[in-house]
Amino acid sequence: MARCPVRSGHFFEKRECQSMSKATPDITQRVEELRSVIDDHNYRYYVLDDPRIPDAEYDRLFRELQTLEADYPELASDTSPTRRVGSAAETSFEEVVHRLPMLSLDNAFNEDELREFDRRVRDRLGISEDVEYVCEPKLDGLAVSLHYENGALTTAATRGDGYSGEDITANIRTIPSVPLKLRGEDVPDLVEIRGEVYMPKDGFEQLNRRLAERGEKTFVNPRNAAAGSLRQKKSTVTAKRPLEMCAYSVAVTDESLLPDTQWDGLQRVQSWGFRINPEMRKAKGVEECLEAYSELMAKRDTLPYEIDGIVFKVNRLDQQNALGFVSRAPRWAIAHKFPAQEELTVIEDVEFQVGRTGAVTPVARLKPVFVGGVTVSNATLHNMDEIRRLDVRIGDTVFIRRAGDVIPQVVKVVPEKRPSGAREVELPDHCPVCDSDVIQIEGEAVARCSGGLFCPAQRKEAIRHYASRKALDIEGLGDKWIDIMVDQGMVKTVADLYHLTTDDLVKLERMGEKSAANLVAAIDKARKPVLWRFLYALGIREVGEATAKGLASHFGTLEAIAAADEESLQSVPDVGPIVAGHIRSFFEQTHNRETLDALRDAGVEWQEEQIQKGDKPLKGQTWVLTGTLSGMTRDEAKEKLESLGAKVAGSVSKKTACVVAGEAAGSKLAKAEQLEVPVLDEAGLVALLHEHGVDAG
Ligand code: IVH
Repeated sequence: MARCPVRSGHFFEKRECQSMSKATPDITQRVEELRSVIDDHNYRYYVLDDPRIPDAEYDRLFRELQTLEADYPELASDTSPTRRVGSAAETSFEEVVHRLPMLSLDNAFNEDELREFDRRVRDRLGISEDVEYVCEPKLDGLAVSLHYENGALTTAATRGDGYSGEDITANIRTIPSVPLKLRGEDVPDLVEIRGEVYMPKDGFEQLNRRLAERGEKTFVNPRNAAAGSLRQKKSTVTAKRPLEMCAYSVAVTDESLLPDTQWDGLQRVQSWGFRINPEMRKAKGVEECLEAYSELMAKRDTLPYEIDGIVFKVNRLDQQNALGFVSRAPRWAIAHKFPAQEELTVIEDVEFQVGRTGAVTPVARLKPVFVGGVTVSNATLHNMDEIRRLDVRIGDTVFIRRAGDVIPQVVKVVPEKRPSGAREVELPDHCPVCDSDVIQIEGEAVARCSGGLFCPAQRKEAIRHYASRKALDIEGLGDKWIDIMVDQGMVKTVADLYHLTTDDLVKLERMGEKSAANLVAAIDKARKPVLWRFLYALGIREVGEATAKGLASHFGTLEAIAAADEESLQSVPDVGPIVAGHIRSFFEQTHNRETLDALRDAGVEWQEEQIQKGDKPLKGQTWVLTGTLSGMTRDEAKEKLESLGAKVAGSVSKKTACVVAGEAAGSKLAKAEQLEVPVLDEAGLVALLHEHGVDAG
């Protein structure tokens, strides 16, 4: 719901009084008119879910009223729709004694218990025919009691212990679906409305996101969020919380003023300006109640707010009165509960899973627990930040929440239940699937496996990306075939694609001769890609088309990109430290280099690119010369390499881009081999120099 200043949570401070002139009758009338029009629009929007004007129009009316009220303070009114902004004054939550106790409901946990309730009702009423019930969703929020005198809201209180609660009037006034003034002509002098204050699911998600971003404590569920919001000392804070209120009962001093059923009573309550639940329905007899239960249960996850069951209430008030109360609950109502969406269990271990894009995600292995209607034994912990935020350790007792189809979440640790041997969770250095390095980039929550081309967990995604239109554009190699080929073990890395034959492919179910031949031909066509496409196809994180083009035209060859250090990578437009880090870690992985070799062996030749003028192809690279060269001296070779931008060093390290090994090369060559640094012989050096237009003598 994005809407007006009040509706969207942006509030305007009351302006200084700018005019000391008295309000004319015209102005007074306009203010009254605006209040009534805005109240009508609010009613349509919050109660009937049926807005009639665009947000901008509503905003204009609202601002006009605000301006007039600021200019003519003598027109101020507590029931004006502008008075929902809350106050910075601290609420003291005075005790309020309920005129009538706020009772609770008995529960039925299964069908038999519900049938038993219905039988008791009929026995007590001495009837055998079906009783009419009202079926109302049991909202998962907090019960409140609101008093209206002569149509104006006077006091709002929490349920408390049922006999007395706390005065939360200032906070309740900020909830847009609570009328400050009752609508209509037939409003009794004294009215008490009871209902539930709750936080809709999307508002809850947004609030938690906002709190997490600010590093503040998040709420475990919408109910706690609603409770926490109503308990705010400053109503300006409550005003920013997305709370709603739904009425479910009404009491007046003179009962003859009310209709004689629960259903009609609530329709009247709605006409006074309250939201009532749109899912409410009538049911004749217990069988229809059971149907209503199943239907509501099936809808549960799609509702915009949380419910924890359904309440059945005898519809006729004379029957309700005849049934009366027992201890603290009415005999005429019962709550049929849905399966709980939160339970406690123990984290037995935390393992790390690798997703298809390489994200390394911690997963809690749980002592199995029945929650949200299923047995849950795993829950995602998202990332290391989340583990730190929750302060989760192995051995902890935690709240598990499973609402709807959402994957089960660990929402809170119970610190008092932490055993002495509880273990901290540590991010592994190596991918649990392929053993490549796990990289955690600073500022990014997600850790990733860097073995993109090789990692079995990422296989399908890597192949899909490689074959995609913007990459090597292998026509006919769709997701379906990739799934089949990988699942059957025919293809492990992109290099394997190039070894597929028509004979291999026709063995696949529903692959005809012609399609097989076409696919082999399409793969063959992808043997000589231009460098940037090939680079993009490798699926290096955050190397999109534009970055791939920039890298290709800056460095000219894949070898140069693979050898470039982070600093020189960053001289390419759009490449910052994070992308440079991704590129480096990709090429540092032995497995990725092996896959590149396998591609080369399979006959894939990525085309070199014209280096953009002014850029030196070996810029940022460190080369080492060793052994004796026959066609030039070591100094000449050094000079020529330097003319291409390389730095020439005396010793080999992991960072060395390439070693040129002449005759009788010794320990430096051995070191290069040990560190898997690329080695060129003299012929290779001469070819490289030629390629870049340097005279090799
Ligand atoms: S009727 C005497 N109707 O459930 C009748 N309660 O366990 C008392 N609740 O404290 C309540 N939705 O907070 C009623 N449609 C509904 C309800 C509802 C939620 C909550 C309410 C109450 C609790 C009783």
